[in-house]
Amino acid sequence: MHSSDFGKDFLWGVATAAAQIEGAANLYGKGQSIWDTFSKRPGKIKKGHRPTLACDFYHRYKEDIALVKTLGFTVFRFSIAWPRIFPLGNRQINKEGVLFYHKVIDECLQQGLIPMVTLYHWDLPEALSKEGGWTAFGINAAFNEYTLFCAKEYGSKVKHWIVINEPFGFTSLGYMLGIHAPGQTGLHNFLDAALHTAIAHADGAKILRAEVQDAIIGTAFSCSEIVPYTQSAQDLMATKRVDALMNRFFVEPTLGMGFPTADWDVLEKFAISHSTWRHQERMKFDFDFIGIQNYFPLVIKYNAFIPVVQAWEIKAKNRRVPHTAMGWEVNANSFYRIIKQFAAYPEIKNIMITENGACYPDHLVDGRVDDQARVAYFKAYLAALLKAKSEGINITGYLAWTLMDNFEWAEGYQARFGLVHNDFKTQQRTIKQSGYWWQEFLSK
Ligand code: NOJ
Repeated sequence: MHSSDFGKDFLWGVATAAAQIEGAANLYGKGQSIWDTFSKRPGKIKKGHRPTLACDFYHRYKEDIALVKTLGFTVFRFSIAWPRIFPLGNRQINKEGVLFYHKVIDECLQQGLIPMVTLYHWDLPEALSKEGGWTAFGINAAFNEYTLFCAKEYGSKVKHWIVINEPFGFTSLGYMLGIHAPGQTGLHNFLDAALHTAIAHADGAKILRAEVQDAIIGTAFSCSEIVPYTQSAQDLMATKRVDALMNRFFVEPTLGMGFPTADWDVLEKFAISHSTWRHQERMKFDFDFIGIQNYFPLVIKYNAFIPVVQAWEIKAKNRRVPHTAMGWEVNANSFYRIIKQFAAYPEIKNIMITENGACYPDHLVDGRVDDQARVAYFKAYLAALLKAKSEGINITGYLAWTLMDNFEWAEGYQARFGLVHNDFKTQQRTIKQSGYWWQEFLSK
C-alpha cells in the first residue's frame, strides 16, 4: 500500500487543536477559556495538569509547521482559540491574537501546506460560559460574530474550514457527564448544548459560504460503530439507542433529517418541551465535506439501571481484545464499517477523515521512540480506508491525530497520540518511528 493508491488529489494531513498545543494561555491578551478555568479545579485533570504551556506552539509554530512538512503531509489542521481573538467571547478584539493566526497561516502557505482551520475545538471563552455557554441560546449570536470575524479576516488565505469539532464529545463529556470543561452535568444541559451546537454548525457554515470565496466547508463528527453484545432484543434496542445518540443525533439534523427521535424516545419527550426544536430547518447545511473522526467501536449491553440510554459499554479490556492505552479497541474493520454507515446517507457527498490515531505509552530511549504498535494501527486503518474508497465511497482526505504529543484534555499530558514525541519539560520534539513511517508512506 502506497499513498499514491489513494489518488493524486487525496489530502493527507495532521490535525491539532489550539488548547492542546498552543500554551501562552494567559499571555498576549488571550482571554480565559473554559479549559483554563476547568483545569484549576482539583481532581478534574489527571495529575493536575494544565494547558498553560502545552507544547508551546505559540512560540514554536515555525518549527512545528516545518515538522509537518518534513513528515510529508500537505495539510495542517489547527484550530483558532476563540478567546485569543475575542477575550470575552465577543465585541472586544485582541489584535495580537488575530495576528498570531495570520502568522500561522502564512507559515503554512510559505511551506506549501494547506491550512485547514477549525473554528471551534472546545475552548469556549470563559466569559461566555458564565452566561450559560452552549446551553444558552445567546451562544449562537456570539459564535456567529466570531465566525464572521474569522471568515473576513482569514478567508482570503484559508479555503478549508471545519466549523465545529466533535459536538458529541464536548456536549456529552462537558455538559452531561462533567468530565470535560465546563464540568456541567445532566441530560437537560446536554440536550440544550447539543441543540445550540446543531444551529451553530449550519449558521457558521452559511457565514463562511457568504464570506469566503471558493471555501471548502466541512464540519467534524465523532463516530463509532455500535455493536450489540448479544443478539437479544434488549441488547439490540440498547444498541439502536446508543447509535442514535452517538452517531445520528448530531449528523442527521445537519443533513436536514431532523433528530432521530423514533429510535430514542427521550428525545421525543424533550422535543415537545424545547423551544429550540422549531429551529430544525436552521440546522441544515449542504456541507462540501463531512469530517468523520473514528477511533474505536463500542460493544453495548442493555442495562436498566443506566439513566437515559439504559445501555452499558462492555470495555475492550474485559472482552480481551486489542486496545490502546486509552482502553479503546483497535479494530480497523469497524473503521471500514462506520465509514460505510456514514457514506450510506445520500446527503453526504464527500467524506474526509478529519481525525484518527492511537495513544500508546511511548518511551524515548536513546533519542528514539519505537512505537511499532502505532505504526501497525495506521497501516491497518489505512488499508480499511482504502478498501472503502475502492468500493466507490468518495473519501477525499485523511488527517492523522496528531502531530505531536499534547494536552489530552482530562487525561492531561500522559496520553500520547503524537507522531512526534514531546518532552514537556524541555519542549524537545523527537520524531517517532510512526512519524518516519508516515514520511516513507507519503513519499510513494
Ligand atoms: C477527539 C478530539 O477532537 C481531540 O481533541 C482528541 O485529542 C482526540 N479525539 C483524542 O482523544
